[in-house]
Formats: sequence, structure tokens, C-alpha cells
Amino acid sequence: MKKQVLGLLIAASFAAPVMAEEAVEVLHWWTSGGEAAALGVLKGNLEKQGVKWNDMPVAGGGGEQAMTAVRARVTAGNPPTAVQMLGFDIQDWAKQGVLSDLNAIATKEGWDKTVPQALQKFSKYNGKWVSAPVNVHSTNWVWANKEVLAKAGVTTEPKTWEEFVAALDKVQKAGFIGLAHGGQPWQEATVFDGVVLATGGLDFYKKAFIDLDPKALNSDTMVKSFDRMAQLRKYVDKDFSGRDWNVASGMVISGKAGFQIMGDWAKGEFVGAKKVAMKDFACFRTPGTQGMVSFNADQFAMFKVGADKVAAQNKLATAILEPGFQSAFNVVKGSAPARTDVPDTAFDACGKKAIKDLAEANKSDKLVGSMAHGHAVPASIKNAFYDVITRQFNGQIDSKKAAVEMASAAKN
Ligand code: BGC
Repeated sequence: MKKQVLGLLIAASFAAPVMAEEAVEVLHWWTSGGEAAALGVLKGNLEKQGVKWNDMPVAGGGGEQAMTAVRARVTAGNPPTAVQMLGFDIQDWAKQGVLSDLNAIATKEGWDKTVPQALQKFSKYNGKWVSAPVNVHSTNWVWANKEVLAKAGVTTEPKTWEEFVAALDKVQKAGFIGLAHGGQPWQEATVFDGVVLATGGLDFYKKAFIDLDPKALNSDTMVKSFDRMAQLRKYVDKDFSGRDWNVASGMVISGKAGFQIMGDWAKGEFVGAKKVAMKDFACFRTPGTQGMVSFNADQFAMFKVGADKVAAQNKLATAILEPGFQSAFNVVKGSAPARTDVPDTAFDACGKKAIKDLAEANKSDKLVGSMAHGHAVPASIKNAFYDVITRQFNGQIDSKKAAVEMASAAKN
């Protein structure tokens, strides 16, 4: 007995020193049911590898509040391991020299060959990968409750703006809310992405939102786009102000409202509520934008962290681009994978459409960055646009004044 104890003591003294636990701290704005479920897939994968997940959720769609939180952390010299980020924000942080160089992992795992160029433009800075793209969302989508549409006598999918307005009208007259909407600037801007594409077409969208051409920003077409926003406003209920986007999705899911215009993260809410694509709900492109895709990709920007945290950060970056994960995550999130080699087998009808639309738009040059979600202009201009769009939607300025202000917002 004594001999045994002694043996154990000797063995213990030769055992490897206890390693510090590997951990990642991840800042994001995925706080809705569908978003949290999708993030859970990544968290689970990391935990299976023994990496602890320290969650830093900062609520607020579009990520504005999250960006404020990151600024505070970076200024204090204590950045998180990874931050959910959109387009131009990644480039802004990269410029400040605070992001990690992921080239070694990217080369080993072939990111250059599998991630679409449109995303790489934002993931790389001076030839170096600084962030890991997790998905491709797009904003020109409409979500509809099929039972509500049937009750209202809307029998076919609206293909033009006029047909859409007629359908909204029927739904409202049948006693439902026509359009479920949350009155927050980023949500109004999300709707505006699709409205501008539908009204002016692809070239106009590019001239206005990518080239910031003042003649396009302050044009009759822009005025017409704002008039259409005013048209939509008539189908929104009186309690819309400040409502979160997922609450608006919930109104379509529960059959209170007929439609919601929202990026395909909305599908995550339908899936989470066990609703079946094309049976319980329909998804279609904002009428007039068929064939076009206004995309935004969520990426995890990797910050320069202490040497003790690099191994865990690398594991996170690797996990994000892993093909099996890209499928599992995006099925839940509502988005398309950020790699072109992920099969669509596991995706529902809307997911398959998202993947197909993306590939086709990419080929035919009809893929544009979403203005509302940081893929057309830097945050400073985006926020100035938000302000104009919201004031017009709330009737504080008319369409003509809004178009004038869009042009001056871009100049400043
Ligand atoms: C992000 C989505 C997110 C949505 C609402 C978008 O900017 O790209 O991932 O679900 O905001 O929070």
C-alpha cells in the first residue's frame, strides 16, 4: 500500500506541467434565436478541440454598437481574439495595423482558391489575410407567410414592384399587417438596398452607392426610390418604431403579417421556429431585382493578441473555413457558404436559391456590395446615408430633399 502511494507521488512529480487553458474571446452581434443557434455550431466545434469560448455579445443589428465596443477594447490595448465584422470595417481596422497575419493558415488551407474574389477584397489587406469569412448574406430578399398570402388571395409570387404593392394591398385589406418592419436606421437602409436596385437597376446602384456619383445620388431615380419607401411605409403597423428585426420576422412567422423585406439572416428565425421553406414560408428576391444580389459577408477579423493566445486564434480561423462547418453553420444562419466548393445538399429551398443566385450573379457581374451592411462605402458615409433614409421613412423630409441630402452626405 505504502509502496503504491510512493509510486503515485513519483509519477505525479514527473507529469507534464498543467498547460494554461486555450481560449478565444469572440465579440459579435448575433443575439437573435437563429443567430445564437448558428454561432453555437462554431462554439461547439472549438470546445470539441478543447478551446474555451468566451462570448462577448453586443446586441444591435448591423453591428454599429459592436464596433463601438471593439474601439474601446483596442484603445485599452486589450482586443478580443476575434470580432464579427463587415466589409469596409475590416479594412479600416487593418489600416490601423491591429489585425493578425493569417497568410500561413490561408496558404496551407487554400483560402485563395475557394473564397470568392468579392469577399477576398475585404478579407485581405496589403496581400495579407486578416479575417476569416464565415458566410455570404444578401439583403434583397422578401420573406412571406404562405398561409397569410393564401387567405388574402395572393396566389402568385410578385415579380414586379407593382405586383408587390398589389399583394401588400391585398394582405392589408384581408386584415393582416402588410409589411413587418422594425423602425431602426439600419433596417430601413436594408430595405433601401433592394428598393434602389429595383428602381434604378444595377448600374444605377453602382453609380450611386459605389462610385458615389452626385448626379446619381441626387437624381429623379433616387427620388423615385424614396417615393417607393413612402409607399412601403403605408403597409407598416403603427408600433414599428424601434422594433428589432427578429421581432418583425416573428410577426411573419406567427401569421400577423404577410411580408418582411430583410437579409437572409431572417431565414434563421423561420428555421429556428421549425418552419419549412416554400411550404410555410416563401422567399423571393425583392421584386425587380431578380438576378441581382446585394451581398454582405460576415467575417471574423482576427486581432493581434499575445503569444499565449495565438494557437487558439489559429484554431478558430481554421474552424471557420472548414467545409463541413461552412455547411452546418450556414444551414442554420440562413446564408450561403463563404467557399465555392461547399455542396448545397444540406440546404433547404431558400438556401439552395441563395447559393445558386450568388454563383450566377457572380458570373454575370450582377453581384454588388450591400450599402446598408458595409460593403459599398465606409462606415462614415454609410451612417450619413442611414440618417437620411430614416428621416425620409419617418416623414421628416420628403423624397426630393432626401435625394439632395444623399448627395451632400457622400461629399462630406
Ligand atoms: C449581419 C448578419 C446579422 C444581421 C442582423 C448583419 O449585418 O451580416 O449576420 O444576422 O446583421 O443582426
